[in-house]
Amino acid sequence: MAVAQHQGRVLRRSVAVACLLAIAASQHGADAFIRVQSGTFVDENCKEFFFSGYNTWQLLENAAGVVGNSGDLTAQFDAAAANNLTVVRMFGFGTAGGFQLQYSPGSYNEKAFQAFDKVISEAGKRKLRLVIAFVNNWDQDSSSDNKKFYVGGGNPDDFYTSASARQAFKNHMKTVTSRKNTITGIAYRDDPTILAWNLINEPRCDAIGCNTDMLSWIEEMAPYLKTVDPNHLVTVGMDGFYDRRSCLAPTGNPSSWAGYTGQDFLPQHAVNGIDYAAIHLWPDNWKRVDLDFGKIWLSNHSANGQLLQKPVVLEEFGKGVGGDLAKGQTESQRMDWYKLVYYLVEQDLEAGTPLKGILFWRWDAVAAAVNSQIGDNALTLATSSDVFQQVVKPFSARVAQRGKTVAGCTPSQGTVSAASIGGGSSGGPGPDFFTAPDSATCCAKDCGTMYGNLEGTPLASATSASASACCDSCKGTTGCSAWNFCYCDLGCAGQPKGTCVLKSMTNAFYPRTQIVGDNAGWIGGVPGQSKITPTWLCQPKGGSTCAADQGASTCSATDLQNSLQCPDNSCNAKDQNVGGDTLVMDVNSNTPTKTVFTAADCCAACKNYGGCNVWTFCNRPEGCSSDCPANVASAKQTGGKTFGPYGGCQGNRFPYQQCTLKNSKDPSKVQVYEAGELQAWTSGTT
Ligand SMILES: *[C@@H]1O[C@H](CO)[C@@H](O)[C@H](O)[C@H]1NC(C)=O
Ligand SMILES: *[C@@H]1O[C@H](CO)[C@@H](O)[C@H](O)[C@H]1NC(C)=O
Repeated sequence: MAVAQHQGRVLRRSVAVACLLAIAASQHGADAFIRVQSGTFVDENCKEFFFSGYNTWQLLENAAGVVGNSGDLTAQFDAAAANNLTVVRMFGFGTAGGFQLQYSPGSYNEKAFQAFDKVISEAGKRKLRLVIAFVNNWDQDSSSDNKKFYVGGGNPDDFYTSASARQAFKNHMKTVTSRKNTITGIAYRDDPTILAWNLINEPRCDAIGCNTDMLSWIEEMAPYLKTVDPNHLVTVGMDGFYDRRSCLAPTGNPSSWAGYTGQDFLPQHAVNGIDYAAIHLWPDNWKRVDLDFGKIWLSNHSANGQLLQKPVVLEEFGKGVGGDLAKGQTESQRMDWYKLVYYLVEQDLEAGTPLKGILFWRWDAVAAAVNSQIGDNALTLATSSDVFQQVVKPFSARVAQRGKTVAGCTPSQGTVSAASIGGGSSGGPGPDFFTAPDSATCCAKDCGTMYGNLEGTPLASATSASASACCDSCKGTTGCSAWNFCYCDLGCAGQPKGTCVLKSMTNAFYPRTQIVGDNAGWIGGVPGQSKITPTWLCQPKGGSTCAADQGASTCSATDLQNSLQCPDNSCNAKDQNVGGDTLVMDVNSNTPTKTVFTAADCCAACKNYGGCNVWTFCNRPEGCSSDCPANVASAKQTGGKTFGPYGGCQGNRFPYQQCTLKNSKDPSKVQVYEAGELQAWTSGTT
């Protein structure tokens, strides 16, 4: 590499004498890179480093004079330094108003880059350290930088899967990290003012099961970033949700929708090259303004940090008052939240447990603004506010004095290799330790695999080495019609990992799970059944037809619609539930063996049944609910797509593959059920 990756005071100075520009840098920049050692952040002398700071945005716009004026940036950084805030998290891209760093993949705005240079230079002068996100999930403004332009006109989720999008994103990370600052003369990758990179702010994807796409994206991007910038720390930048199949989802997520965002906190932070785990906390946006949720969220993620053997940082915490977001919330509620969250973080700092800091959301680009109740400004924290003066400022002053020398830490030697930074091969347990078993094995054995704790009467309970071994036990046990295996490291409903429960099902035609909450960490199935996978779904990834893989389906809405298998299109199938007088409640329970596996089967049954002109089929393995408010909220979030995401139903459910035959007086005007009743059903007329 042309530019030596020196770090540390001595080397930095020796470079500086040779170069005028670097002399300027040496007079102000942070002294050396922050590293992770023994599960904590340390400076070059092995003194522990804690995050105490804030989020801000539109810093590039501000530095370029597009938003506010040029004095705002320095005033804000001065205010930070004066209040012992030492870490600033920012977006390394334009957020609005047509001000972009990257116009299109590979095409850059030099004016924005010079603004970036200025932000880093001004931060360095005050020994502030920057956490910088490369891209945003959110498309706040069609002209701002976000993941969308990496996929052209395609589905934004292709950002994670498309080879060209991945390459374009890697090129972007390389361009940014190798950028030579026009003010300091230091390449970004060599500047200790940068504390860490976030790969992406709040990654999301919509396809059911796209958590595996996101994982493989992180597995490619984090190690790649280490090759172009071995000096800086890396984290994902996510909220910290658990995939719905994670055993932590039911108690850990703010609500069931969070299990369908593609995020899966543990495996995605266990990836090599991810040095620390970062989370967000948004009581208002997540509609969890109860303080108990805040306690659980922080204690769960702190405990997770122990498993990962990596530090955890609360990189975004925001609590609003008023505005659309926090309507009806008061200053005193905001105060309670800030007190709780800062207190819990400080407890971890004292105890040496994984939480290592907090960055509140936010200071406006244009100074540390006054409290306002307009839009996102509802979250802006004025320096004059009680919350800032009584909670944030004293915390930051205490944190500035903290930091002992970490036992077992090696002082840095001037140069850093990717492996020594942490998150390398010794960076914690592998990414498999919380994921479900390889369902392909179960499939091959025809175990009818699905996630969850199946309903049925337990016959026996033992320990099995794997899910497929558990299935084998069931096959060899008289009366066993279903099996359940606990794959979760934390155990399942009080049972240890490896527990294999053999069951007799009341009706083995349609295995269904317990209500959500009892399902965590279980995988199960019905031996001999190969059709638990809804065959109307498109082929899941990798060509597998395993039910457990259905989450990895790559189906788009259109694919799903087209795969309903009514070739003559005489079934008018739609993802909806429609009314009519019921003739047969469930075809499958009226026949000695199950005959309806797909929506098309149900349609055919209707055609063959006198008087039937309307049919309804339950197409969700967890069953369909008539009372499922969580799903309705989720459907709204996904633009009204009624087939997903699912989960969270606590009410009565109809079994998977229930096929109801109905008669409608006027099939051209069938009643379409609204809200909770439409979820997970496919219906049509003949
Ligand atoms: C906190 O900030 C003030 C103002 O910049 C400074 O004088 C003080 O030394 C800082 N405290 C610590 C412990 O660094
Ligand atoms: C998460 O919090 C819930 C509620 O306190 C608790 O039951 C669960 O054990 C916690 N999980 C972890 C990993 O700490």
